[in-house]
Amino acid sequence: MTTAESRGTDGRILVVGGYGAVGATVTSTLGAWYPGRVVPGGRNAERARRLGGVRVDVADPEGFRRVLEGLGAVAAVVLCVEPPDAGVARVCLEGGIHVVDVSATARLLDAVTELGGVATDAGATGVLSVGVAPGLTNLLARRAHEAVGGADRIDLTLLFGTGERHGTDALRWTMAGLAEPVRARPLRTELPGHGPRTTHPFPFSDQHTLPRTLGVRQVTTRLCLDSRALSTALFTMRRAGLTRLTARPDVQRRLADLSGRVHLGGDGFAVRADAWHGDRHAAYALTGREQSRVTGLTAAYVTRELLTGTAPPGVHHIEQLPGLARLPEDLAEYGVTLLRHSGRTGRR
Ligand SMILES: NC(=O)c1ccc[n+]([C@@H]2O[C@H](COP(=O)([O-])OP(=O)(O)OC[C@H]3O[C@@H](n4cnc5c(N)ncnc54)[C@H](OP(=O)(O)O)[C@@H]3O)[C@@H](O)[C@H]2O)c1
Repeated sequence: MTTAESRGTDGRILVVGGYGAVGATVTSTLGAWYPGRVVPGGRNAERARRLGGVRVDVADPEGFRRVLEGLGAVAAVVLCVEPPDAGVARVCLEGGIHVVDVSATARLLDAVTELGGVATDAGATGVLSVGVAPGLTNLLARRAHEAVGGADRIDLTLLFGTGERHGTDALRWTMAGLAEPVRARPLRTELPGHGPRTTHPFPFSDQHTLPRTLGVRQVTTRLCLDSRALSTALFTMRRAGLTRLTARPDVQRRLADLSGRVHLGGDGFAVRADAWHGDRHAAYALTGREQSRVTGLTAAYVTRELLTGTAPPGVHHIEQLPGLARLPEDLAEYGVTLLRHSGRTGRR
């Protein structure tokens, strides 16, 4: 198993889910930056080996440990598929291996956060909230929060393109989210390039994390789709209780298969963070194309930051690492546009 000395700039980088919608970008971007060191992994042994990778299953931490041992010196593991629990993160961090995790489920991120002491003892760093949401949402929230001198409320908004080929695991997560109960109300929000849109509360983990990392009392994340018709249909069904069935894995599989064949909108996405403090209001927004690709780019930048060795050991969310604060600007070369939004929208 790898130890602390194989971290830093040496050692291999295992990208789990490395040929999926998010992981393929991570594999190719890190592969260009660190030639010969990147190993893609997944459950399909043939597919993984064709790409020079390994068979690995995040549902089997002991098997995962053996894969790491077989690879020799591993500096970092990038998780581009959501594991069922914190088991594989524990295996990595205990062994002094950095972890970058794109997961968006609050319960799972909490379980990995609890490994902070394990990571610190082993000299490893885990970074959570990596991607578009959570991820860029957390970074924009922090900027807006600071711009109002400490927010008492933050509203996060996402618009996803229905024409993008979302990965199966991301679609499964979205279907599971549709079945979860919501308490917050919809909100009208202006999204760059898409005008005023009705946005609906959705269980992204950022709204769970930010009250703790920024100390903001109330944070809500809302979602809409670029196709107004599809967005209205989906959230009307949810209000009527019809999306409760999407908690079932068989329904998730069938709907994921269907949405893989239906492409109504484009592949653009938009993200916005509004912070409020008394009368003060600040908003940042960004737009881009293909949120899976931008999630992969974000994960690649975070991994590179860890490999410079400047991040402190422990488990952190992206907005807690100063070296990543300018990531939205860094992504400009990949077509991501950052905007400071002025004017008040939505209800206070
Ligand atoms: N933070 C964000 O903004 C953000 C944005 C988009 C997606 N995500 C998250 O990223 C994850 C991946 O999404 P995606 O769109 O890339 O999905 P995807 O295209 O289905 O890719 C998942 C990859 O993981 C592999 N995989 C699946 N189960 C595995 C397991 N048990 N052990 C090892 N590998 C496994 C798959 O290959 P095999 O089937 O061959 O194993 C595939 O390569 C999802 O959890 C999604 O929620 C986060």
